[in-house]
Amino acid sequence: MYKMEKNIAVLKGDGIGPEIVNEAIHVLEAVADRFGHRFHYQFADMGGVAIDNTGDPLPQETVDICEQADAVLLGAIGDPKFDNNPDAAVRPEQGLLKIRKTLGLFTNVRPVKIYTTLEHLSPLKSERLQNVDMVIYRELTGGIYFGEKTKGANSASDLCSYNKGEIERVAKLAFDEATRRRHKLCLVDKANVLETSRLWRKVVQEMSAHYPEVEVSYLFVDNAAMQLILNPSQFDVILTSNMFGDILSDEASILGGSIGLLPSASFGTKYRLYEPVHGSYPQAKGKDIANPIATVLSVAMMLRDFGMAKEATIVEAAVEDCIRLNITTEDINKEDASKCSEVGKALCNLIRGQSMHSTVRNLNP
Ligand code: IPM
Ligand code: MG
Repeated sequence: MYKMEKNIAVLKGDGIGPEIVNEAIHVLEAVADRFGHRFHYQFADMGGVAIDNTGDPLPQETVDICEQADAVLLGAIGDPKFDNNPDAAVRPEQGLLKIRKTLGLFTNVRPVKIYTTLEHLSPLKSERLQNVDMVIYRELTGGIYFGEKTKGANSASDLCSYNKGEIERVAKLAFDEATRRRHKLCLVDKANVLETSRLWRKVVQEMSAHYPEVEVSYLFVDNAAMQLILNPSQFDVILTSNMFGDILSDEASILGGSIGLLPSASFGTKYRLYEPVHGSYPQAKGKDIANPIATVLSVAMMLRDFGMAKEATIVEAAVEDCIRLNITTEDINKEDASKCSEVGKALCNLIRGQSMHSTVRNLNP
């Protein structure tokens, strides 16, 4: 008998997706062994690989598998053969946008954390990185990403629209998170120019009355982009729309030295999907050099949502140990890089509580 059993839909996707997801699954298996759980995996195609196999970036079978699972684990999607062709009829990204919409994943959570031992890799001076600990709440199923699109010979348009309900439901989750954290929420918008942003501000102002213990601030997105570099420790919870959240989360991700470290969770009322913030890094495909940590930390977020808080903490501690022991991939370790699979193996050994020395060459050259 297992303590807990969970069904996980796995979408490995494109580029480095399969490699990083394989390591994340090894980590899940190490957790299962240590704690007496059982995870069942259902694999399905999405993105470029699904286009190649079926012509459709999100086949119905994939949707069915995701809807039947307790959680979805996604690697990454995207392939340059589509990016460089503006006339491509189907694109891998359509699969990702459609799964977010179909599963109703209106909130995307992206925590940003700095590892002290990696501070030297940050483009910022280390004094600016002290006390940086923020989480971005990005609206994920509305705004300019999903508005009506038109395309003429010499003109094109993308409509940005939001309604009150769409703003309220993600804002509520962000306010709740702020009450669990340092009680600060910053709404990032462009309310000096955009009607949608003025609606965001109005809704958030109204809601703030119900959260007197949360200190709410407002920043225009251009200023926020600057503040993230100038004084990143001022942020606790950032709440923002789909497009601004996309841009700011990439910006925030390099504070810690590599986008390869940042996990994310997306959810609505029913389904949950976990994926690294980074993309499919096609240049590294098949080379076993990609950083699996963002995906492994996404798995930690999944475990916590399964009610496995201790398991999640152990995975996060293993990641910290790997970083401290310098068992890391080349994006954060130029001198003595480990392979993606070696980092995965070291994480599993740490989780299983086994000795590192027998398996990890960095410690036993
Ligand atoms: C992200 C990605 C996606 C987005 C792309 C791949 C469509 O950049 O998850 O941040 O823009 O949402
Ligand atoms: Mg992005």
